Amino acid sequence: MEKVLPLLLLTLLGFLFPFTFSSSTFSNCFNVQSFGAKGDGVTNDTQAFMSMWNAGCTEDTGNVEFLVPRAVYLLGPIQFRGPCKARSVFFNMQGHLKATTDLRDYEDAWIQFRDLNNLTVDGGGNGTLNGQGWASWRFDKCPEIKKCKILPVSLKFVGCTNTSLMNIKSLDSKFFHMGVLDCHDFKASRLRIKAPEDSPNTDGIHIERSSNVKISSSVIRTGDDCISIGQGNSHITVSGIACGPGHGISVGSLGRYPNEKDVNHLIIRDSVLTGTQNGVRIKTWADSPQTSNANNMIFSNIVMNNVRNPIIIDQEYCPYPYCANRVPSSVKISNIMFKNIRGSSKSKIAININCSKGVPCQNINLHNIHLDIVGEISGSSQCKNAQIHYSGTQIPPPCVTELKSI
Ligand SMILES: *[C@@H]1O[C@H](CO)[C@@H](O)[C@H](O)[C@H]1NC(C)=O
Ligand SMILES: *[C@@H]1O[C@H](CO)[C@@H](O)[C@H](O)[C@H]1NC(C)=O
Ligand SMILES: *[C@@H]1O[C@H](CO)[C@@H](O)[C@H](O)[C@H]1NC(C)=O
Ligand SMILES: *[C@@H]1O[C@H](CO)[C@@H](O)[C@H](O)[C@H]1NC(C)=O
Ligand SMILES: *[C@@H]1O[C@H](CO)[C@@H](O)[C@H](O)[C@H]1NC(C)=O
Repeated sequence: MEKVLPLLLLTLLGFLFPFTFSSSTFSNCFNVQSFGAKGDGVTNDTQAFMSMWNAGCTEDTGNVEFLVPRAVYLLGPIQFRGPCKARSVFFNMQGHLKATTDLRDYEDAWIQFRDLNNLTVDGGGNGTLNGQGWASWRFDKCPEIKKCKILPVSLKFVGCTNTSLMNIKSLDSKFFHMGVLDCHDFKASRLRIKAPEDSPNTDGIHIERSSNVKISSSVIRTGDDCISIGQGNSHITVSGIACGPGHGISVGSLGRYPNEKDVNHLIIRDSVLTGTQNGVRIKTWADSPQTSNANNMIFSNIVMNNVRNPIIIDQEYCPYPYCANRVPSSVKISNIMFKNIRGSSKSKIAININCSKGVPCQNINLHNIHLDIVGEISGSSQCKNAQIHYSGTQIPPPCVTELKSI
């Protein structure tokens, strides 16, 4: 009897241990190759990704892992939709995903994570999303026509709470590389984003209607804005970004559509822009269909290298050759700080604060600005319809303000 009990215990433990062990590592890991993915770069693996997701997302456990091992997977549009039963979802994206190129298969996104909580997407350094945008850029009419068909965003997060995205590469997106919409508590870091300088609408990361978003430590070289912060956002922090080529880091464009919400509490800091069209920019459309507010923003510790418009507020934004009525923008901009911004400007007008005649900018602050002009002795500032406070170094010198009805 004395010998049976330990044996029984051992047997029991033998049962229990592999079980507890496997439930925290193995049985919770869903490997796309176990669901039929070929990973040969030629076979359409969309169905295998879908099957993996459907199996893992319904698994009622603490933490679930989806594993995409290193290989090249051809993938059409796909939605990883939640909520999942697990408390957290870990998407281990080591593979190289290649988008199919027939636009007829797509709606607004290639890879979409939707309605998820506690999601981590980690590319481990080599995980890559290749949008193969070269095949569709010529169908993008958005640079020419306002009412254009939008091409698919490579990686879109919609309605997610507590998300981390890291160590991932995005190449040649068809449209934006990444979109973050209606998300709260979203962190992205160590991203490498790349598309040719002349590729249309390949914004790096576009954020909209989201809060508590942090984007950090990333390199973005693309054809449009490196980061664009659209309507409805609050508490967004962008830091440690190397941007360029591209159109810079932008707030906006705002005031294009009806029912847009306010944008506030933004911090853009500790970043370097090189050879970009703009540095830090706030852009709002003329003819905005309704009023909204854009306020409480800090742009600080930013280095400009040969940037065309280092500091710019443009409230008559209209990228098209003709723009209808030209009613002044009704987005009200206030409480903006630009501080410790230095480097070189490619155009003579290093600072351009061009605000709305309808709702002039209030409380714009410039502190310690040193922008030299490439190949020229000195540059200048321009401003319109803005109340501006200057302190510390001011190179170029403050503009002679053309103040109207403030
Ligand atoms: C790839 O597979 C998915 C899912 O089976 C299918 O809907 C899609 O049409 C396929 N795409 C191509 C280009 O074969
Ligand atoms: C997310 O994770 C936190 C912390 O582990 C947990 O309290 C919460 O219930 C999780 N959310 C969901 C929807 O499972
Ligand atoms: C966020 O999700 C991670 C895992 O994905 C979890 O560890 C963390 O506790 C969650 N945080 C909150 C506040 O729920
Ligand atoms: C990434 O890929 C390179 C080249 O294939 C390899 O040398 C390196 O070890 C990989 N890094 C990781 C973290 O897998
Ligand atoms: C303001 O923007 C309008 C429209 O783009 C432009 O015509 C005007 O010259 C700009 N003013 C300044 C001071 O840049």
